[in-house]
Amino acid sequence: MSDFVIETKGLARSFISGNKSIEVLQGIDFSITSGESCSIQGESGSGKSTFLHLLAGLDKPDSGAIFWEGQDLKTLNNVALAKKRGSLVGMVFQSYYLVPELRAFENVLLAARITGIMNEDTEREAEKLLDRVGLAGRKTSLPATLSGGERQRVAIARALISNPKALLADEPTGNLDEETGDSIMDLLLDLCIEKEVALVLVTHNPTYASRLDRAWRLKQGRLEEQG
Ligand SMILES: Nc1ncnc2c1ncn2[C@@H]1O[C@H](COP(=O)(O)OP(=O)(O)OP(=O)(O)O)[C@@H](O)[C@H]1O
Ligand SMILES: [Mg+2]
Repeated sequence: MSDFVIETKGLARSFISGNKSIEVLQGIDFSITSGESCSIQGESGSGKSTFLHLLAGLDKPDSGAIFWEGQDLKTLNNVALAKKRGSLVGMVFQSYYLVPELRAFENVLLAARITGIMNEDTEREAEKLLDRVGLAGRKTSLPATLSGGERQRVAIARALISNPKALLADEPTGNLDEETGDSIMDLLLDLCIEKEVALVLVTHNPTYASRLDRAWRLKQGRLEEQG
């Protein structure tokens, strides 16, 4: 098995806009090992979200390859890809994407159900995770009754319920005030270390970026490691 949880080679992705093609990613070589953390910075429109979607196997490159634990995603059919995604990656987004009709606890359980990992321990695991993210008293709250920071805590618990090897976070503090954002960052970093989860963090915040093991920047379609 490869040492890399996720690796890309020569990844390219373009989009057609009107009658011209925008070359968003142009040959990206990237890798992350177990428990490692890295940041991706870059201007708005530089392709950070596009890149994370590719890493998560939610989009396909025009050329180049993505490997999960050494396995080329091109060799997986959609069913196998979805199954492997469920056990390999968790995702956290800027705008939480909780199911509004479901309570905090049910939002976390739903993720386990979708990825097919429900067993007799899952409910206890969900409870433990919600305690761990600081929501012990809010397990039965609906998302609309939670603050932004609390919603993001639910989303983090949801992302971790399947014990993923990698967490892909797309500006997870982007909608939060500075203090709340800092507390969410502390929580994310602590949890990734505790659970030995590889973290790929898209952020505009250089202070957050400097706290991770490696720092990358997307610029004109290329990914460069920062010195
Ligand atoms: N499905 C799509 N169809 C057409 N163009 C797209 C699509 N997805 C992304 N793009 C274009 O690709 C470029 C990169 O978009 P992307 O969302 O990856 O940027 P980003 O770095 O995440 O920006 P931000 O910091 O604003 O979130 C943009 O020019 C965007 O308009
Ligand atoms: Mg984006």
